[in-house]
Formats: sequence, C-alpha cells, structure tokens
Amino acid sequence: TYIVNDNCIACKYTDCVEVCPVDCFYEGENMLVIHPDECIDCGVCEPECPADAIRPDTEPDMEKWVEFNRKYSEMWPVIITRKDPLPGADERDGEEGKLEKYFS
Ligand code: SF4
Ligand code: F3S
Repeated sequence: TYIVNDNCIACKYTDCVEVCPVDCFYEGENMLVIHPDECIDCGVCEPECPADAIRPDTEPDMEKWVEFNRKYSEMWPVIITRKDPLPGADERDGEEGKLEKYFS
C-alpha cells in the first residue's frame, strides 16, 4: 500500500485525489490519508504530490503511518475532487514537527 505522511499536514494540495483509480483518499481538516486496505498499489498518486507526502509502505519504519492512515480513513469522508491547497501551503511544505504543531 501507499500512505500519506505528515508532510501533507497544513498543505493538503489534493492533486493526489484526481488520479486514484479506486478513490481511496479520505479528508481530514488539514491532511488526507489513504485507506491501506483499499489502495491497489498502483503508485500513480506518488509523483502527483508536490509535498512528496505519499510514500510506499516498503520504505523502513512505515507501520506507524499505515496504522495512522487506516485509523483516520475509517473516520473521515472520502474526497474525490481536487480543491485549493490550504493557505500558506508552499511555506509549510517541508516544515518539521507538523504532526505536533498542526494536526487536528
Ligand atoms: Fe490510489 Fe494508486 Fe495511490 Fe493507492 S497508489 S492511493 S490506489 S492512486
Ligand atoms: Fe496531501 Fe500531497 Fe495529496 S500534500 S493532499 S498527499 S497531493
């Protein structure tokens, strides 16, 4: 599966949702997640994210992010249409400690 990590937080560019063939992105207030059981591992969303926040779970230490994505995808509504990024997204791309600072 692929997952969304903390660099999506406070950016939320949403380019990713337009390309997913199975519509498995879910939207919270300031980030998206992927449902790990619905993702078919096609990989097309990965290069679409300007914040490089979409990663394959084959990278090291991804269990935490898979569980994070699963948890919130079961609570949040699906998103299938692109929208404007959050205000200040470009300035916050790459900022450290986003989970602690901005996640809600
Ligand atoms: Fe959707 Fe493919 Fe990305 Fe999985 S890898 S979230 S199926 S676009
Ligand atoms: Fe987030 Fe990247 Fe999609 S910033 S909303 S994962 S395009």
